[in-house]
Amino acid sequence: TKIKAFRKALLNWYDQMGRSLPWRENQDPYSIWVSEIMLQQTQVKTVIPYYQRFMTTLPNVAALAKASEEQILSLWQGLGYYSRVRNMQTAAQEIVTNFDGQFPQTKAELLTLKGIGDYTAAAIASMAFGQVEPALDGNLIRIVTRLFEIDHDVTKAKTKQELLGILYQLIDPDRPGDFNQAMMDLGATVMTPDNLNINASPLKEFDLSYQHGTAKNYPNKPKK
Ligand code: ADE
Repeated sequence: TKIKAFRKALLNWYDQMGRSLPWRENQDPYSIWVSEIMLQQTQVKTVIPYYQRFMTTLPNVAALAKASEEQILSLWQGLGYYSRVRNMQTAAQEIVTNFDGQFPQTKAELLTLKGIGDYTAAAIASMAFGQVEPALDGNLIRIVTRLFEIDHDVTKAKTKQELLGILYQLIDPDRPGDFNQAMMDLGATVMTPDNLNINASPLKEFDLSYQHGTAKNYPNKPKK
């Protein structure tokens, strides 16, 4: 089927062209969580040394839960948005108290933790636990609106639901975490905002905006 061909094209590309990143070395939910929170407002290249130091200093949920405020702020010094790491410590304490120290495995349970929203919950559930949850970040919004020429205003919650509905159909149930990360890498390197590398796309045959030369119209983000 076309959906199976789409998954195969994307994951074959990822297996050859995907980036090697330190948080992809294992499926530990704590590692994935730390990286995803750092990556929310900070570029991959900047995050890598912070990530490595953070993981060496506070290697697991229990260590983060009991760290001093001074220590967590100093590990975050330079990344900005300090509420991110304060919320992470609160969430680590919630995991200790409410989940007996075991990382929750479903998106619904992950959403109960401080600072974990739809995107982060889906990223952890898919990458660490193999749950079929699309992680809708800016890259995936751009890719899906282009593939299907979706004109709807992506600042609207209803449009995000529409995009998630499409992604639940597309996501590979056998490799959901890799599917999400493949889409992120494709958005970062090929289906970029300027679209300059689009001729290298593994998804050209599935991409209406490529076929029609309309990529620049997507995503539709009105300035209000
Ligand atoms: N940006 C946010 N999460 C990412 C991930 N897991 N891999 C690459 N870039 C990302």
